[in-house]
Amino acid sequence: MFISEKAPAKINLTLDALYKRADGYHELEMVMTSVDLADRIDLLSLPHSAILLESSSGLVPQDDKNLAYMAASLLRKKMGIRRGVAIKIDKKVPVAAGLAGGSSDAAATLRGLNRLWGLGLSLRELAEIGSEIGSDVPYCVYGNTALAKGRGERLQVLPAPPSCWVVLAKPSQGVSTADVFGELKVDHVQTRPKTKEMMEALYRQDYRAITRLLSNVLEPITMNMEPDVRKLKEKMYQFGADGVLMSGSGPTVFALVDRESRAKRMVNSLKGFCPQVFAVRMLGNLNKTKQNAIVQA
Ligand code: C5P
Repeated sequence: MFISEKAPAKINLTLDALYKRADGYHELEMVMTSVDLADRIDLLSLPHSAILLESSSGLVPQDDKNLAYMAASLLRKKMGIRRGVAIKIDKKVPVAAGLAGGSSDAAATLRGLNRLWGLGLSLRELAEIGSEIGSDVPYCVYGNTALAKGRGERLQVLPAPPSCWVVLAKPSQGVSTADVFGELKVDHVQTRPKTKEMMEALYRQDYRAITRLLSNVLEPITMNMEPDVRKLKEKMYQFGADGVLMSGSGPTVFALVDRESRAKRMVNSLKGFCPQVFAVRMLGNLNKTKQNAIVQA
């Protein structure tokens, strides 16, 4: 049997780091949403116990270090599955970009194997298993739009942003998440996201307010490490963006644009500066997950 799952990229509409915890991680508060740029995960059931993995991109591990492999392996172990699976990843989401590409592949693998192996697990149960693989995996299991707290495992479903275009641009140099958080001094943060106001703007479907409230405490740090982040932001505003922000720990920068023609023009103008540029749609709410539901992984 064969199953295909989409693994969409996420962007941060806000990212706040409240304090450094005893375990060395930062306590986060993030509003995240999914965009229509996705990897495709093909899963083929195998009669024997092997997990095989193949990816169209040489930039991701093709073995047990790949998060999708880890997801399959963990699910097999937890559910006592004897069968194996061949995983094929058609990679479209930029790698090491702040777009949760690897986490989304892991989440799609969990959702897909749940169907392929007929496990009948709820999204909540899959998210709980996913939290053992990586901080962004629980969010990616649900997708859509959510407030994520803790390391990202405590989720509150939010309304999707109003329909608009998202122009994504990833500078060629990557940054290490550990290095970015390593430079963060939570007591010295000058501008913090107004998370509650962003949530209210989503409930009101207030596009202008959403573009005004985009904010990420990691952006100034990554900008210092990777000057292209600042340059791309300036260019995007110059080419008519309604709002611009870096996603996650970066270095991908995204612009929100309400008109398709402007988004396409922006892509053409940015291509000279940046090798990876995309204009995609914001994804609406894909399934009727109850708004306001609190889900805890
Ligand atoms: O989540 P990931 O393992 O990619 O994070 C890499 C590093 O970034 C962690 O080891 C930690 O140093 C830092 N980090 C953090 N707070 C978080 C997430 C990551 O300090 N919430």
